[in-house]
Amino acid sequence: MTTKPVLLIHGGAWAMPDQEIAAHERGIANALAAGYSLLEQGATAVDAVEAAVAVMEDDETFDAGRGSFLTQDGRVQMDALLMDGSNLRTGGVACVERLRNPIRAARLVLDKSPHVYFVGTGAERFARQHGMLLCENMDLVVRREQERLYKAQAAELAGLPDETFSGNLEAAIKLQSHDTVGAVALDQYGNISAGTSTGGTLNKAPGRVGDSSLIGCGCYADNLSAAVSLTGWGEPIMKLVLGKWAVDRVAAGATPAEAAQAAIDYLFGRLGGYGGIILLGPDGQVGLAHNTPRMAWGLQTPNGPQLGVTRNPG
Ligand code: GLY
Repeated sequence: MTTKPVLLIHGGAWAMPDQEIAAHERGIANALAAGYSLLEQGATAVDAVEAAVAVMEDDETFDAGRGSFLTQDGRVQMDALLMDGSNLRTGGVACVERLRNPIRAARLVLDKSPHVYFVGTGAERFARQHGMLLCENMDLVVRREQERLYKAQAAELAGLPDETFSGNLEAAIKLQSHDTVGAVALDQYGNISAGTSTGGTLNKAPGRVGDSSLIGCGCYADNLSAAVSLTGWGEPIMKLVLGKWAVDRVAAGATPAEAAQAAIDYLFGRLGGYGGIILLGPDGQVGLAHNTPRMAWGLQTPNGPQLGVTRNPG
């Protein structure tokens, strides 16, 4: 007997303005279609997660791949992780600057390396040795992000308050918006997988690595518990190892919906962090929660797709 496939994805959690909603919904719909059609053809959860995330990396709407936030020196620097819950095989890359699809490099690490994690030029060299083309960093930079960076740096120079910690949530999340993308999938063989990809945070110091590509922080998958992908302010998520925290709740008996909400409550209660989470159990149950004003997500099961940009009722 085969399991009914499930694909749940997110395209960031932040104070998304009304005029950006349509682009996010389009991007989510495209990613969902790409990933789910693979699951319907009998592909693995890892294949579906990789495909869905790659579509969002290719879409400039999101903070992943081309269109990512820029570092202090105006470059795109990206992190990604892919994990197979059936055997815990994992591939991660961080601080890559010349790959259009970091999630595909993560897949190569998962499949072809005895190691788990590569950074910077070593990651790019590994990807190139396994057939990926390198691009110029400027191929990944878009005008919108250059303008956003100039604005953030001008505010910094003018000594304007750092909205990240000012308690002005709307201003902080607009400036530090999080369009990190991610996916979790369950395939017909009963296996789960998770992937997360990001350009990190606006105006980050070169070399900074966020939660997204760190095992158990922004991403985790284990058939014995659940698959998870997070988006949001990376530093608090990392300090709490929040992805692993959440899947452990599922292993202890919580539903993915309960564990997702508990994780976001813990993120805020313990460190005042903001973000969003998607969770999927090996039984196909899903959970989603966020404490940012909005979160873009999509879910597909044999009953069809559902997608939207959720408003935080709080
Ligand atoms: N969650 C993305 C980052 O902080 O890098």
